Amino acid sequence: MTETEADLRRLPASRVQTAAFYEVKDLAAGDAVVLLTADDPRLVMESLNLQLRDALAWQTQATAEGFRTRVVLRDETEPADVVDLLIRDHRRVDELLGRALRRINAADAAGARPLLAEFAAGLRRHIRVENELLAPMLPQPAGPDGTSHVAIMLREHEEILAQLGEVEASFAFDAAPEAWEVEPFVAILSGTLAKHEHREESNLFPHWAAALRARPAPEQPALLARVRAMLEGGEDVKT
Ligand SMILES: [Fe+2]
Ligand SMILES: [Fe+2]
Repeated sequence: MTETEADLRRLPASRVQTAAFYEVKDLAAGDAVVLLTADDPRLVMESLNLQLRDALAWQTQATAEGFRTRVVLRDETEPADVVDLLIRDHRRVDELLGRALRRINAADAAGARPLLAEFAAGLRRHIRVENELLAPMLPQPAGPDGTSHVAIMLREHEEILAQLGEVEASFAFDAAPEAWEVEPFVAILSGTLAKHEHREESNLFPHWAAALRARPAPEQPALLARVRAMLEGGEDVKT
């Protein structure tokens, strides 16, 4: 557990983000990096976090000489709210699917099978949380063309579940399928899912996060616990 400090206050503003990137890109579990900056680093941190796929959590304090920002890995902090938990869950299922795809590309479809099973269970739970728990209780904001972001989400979930069914079918025909038999289905699903998650996170989740913050404070921990339990399989439908 180490904490290092990087003083970026003398750098030109145009170089702060790159310098900060090199300071935090190899941040390990348990470690922290403290960035000292002359200007408020909010925008720099947000775009850095985007660059690192939401891996970071940070707190900034104004000091007499500028700003002091302590950066840690987001996974080590408690999720701030339900939306934060869902974004982390996106990364978790993506990682499982990515590992499965790497096994398939290494001609090891058998090795991909348990990863895909875990991915499928996690994805179905995630979609249930969004469809059955959150969509009915949270607002249904519309985009600039009037289409509801929730309606788009529900339609994309249908498409994703259909593609997941194709992946599972490609594995069901044969105990040990060839990689080329299953790869196209997994690759298509991976692309569809990535686009869907991006759309949710940029179009819908900011509205949902604001709506959640506006609800009574005592509700928040209970809702967070319920979503966590659902994502962990605590409310799986028995078949
Ligand atoms: Fe979704
Ligand atoms: Fe989602």
